[in-house]
Amino acid sequence: MKTSKSTEDHWNASLYDGKHAFVSQYGNSLVQLLAPKEEERILDLGCGTGDLANTLFEGGVEVVGVDKSENMVKLATSKYPQIPFTVQDATQLTYQNEFDAVFSNATLHWVHPPKEAVQCIYESLKQGGRMVAEFGGKGNVQTITDEIIQQIKNAGFEFKATQFPWYYPSIAEYSKLLEEAGFHVIFAQLYDRPTPLDGENGLRNWIEMFGNMLFDGIPEQIKDHIIANVEINLKDILYREGIWMADYKRIRVVGIK
Ligand code: BEZ
Repeated sequence: MKTSKSTEDHWNASLYDGKHAFVSQYGNSLVQLLAPKEEERILDLGCGTGDLANTLFEGGVEVVGVDKSENMVKLATSKYPQIPFTVQDATQLTYQNEFDAVFSNATLHWVHPPKEAVQCIYESLKQGGRMVAEFGGKGNVQTITDEIIQQIKNAGFEFKATQFPWYYPSIAEYSKLLEEAGFHVIFAQLYDRPTPLDGENGLRNWIEMFGNMLFDGIPEQIKDHIIANVEINLKDILYREGIWMADYKRIRVVGIK
């Protein structure tokens, strides 16, 4: 029987670029917070398919992009061959005092353990360098994930906390982590960013793109049924005027080494 299984590289880079381009589009405002200067050397951590790295490159930055997904790095390299992109795990970076800034958009909620990633980012920065990051914060997409978990249980499957793939810290928790690594935290914010999901199947597409790990070991047919129930139960809450709105909550931080 075919069951849902999260694989090592679960990212479909072309689908991500097509249906989920909003991830990079929202990232443009994080570039403003980064305020990159020409000739700065900046690491884009979790570069995805490379669009924000290219924005930095076009602004005269010496940018290096890294991502854990080989599929993402391949597509980024083919789109922007002038930028060095490599496959790397955020918890195993080996850069030392190299970068003026580490920039990270919509990545750090995937990274475990977060403490190791923060330490690697700190080591990668020159003294006085800055980390500018945004990712899912406390309560992110909780309306969706609570409903999925409830429906998994209703279908008779166990759901273990270890199956939850994301890290969504509060600003207090994440600022503490940054300070323990040695950063001076000069900015931390948690804000609601309701996010439209494209089309009538927007919620289903989002769950299939990002939430596959929640369904590990569940037969495909049952997974389909679970998602259908999630759509029914969330329609009154998240579907307005033909658009699914996901309850994103973002944490933004700036730390100085
Ligand atoms: C996020 O960007 O917050 C996010 C994206 C995919 C899955 C979960 C969270």
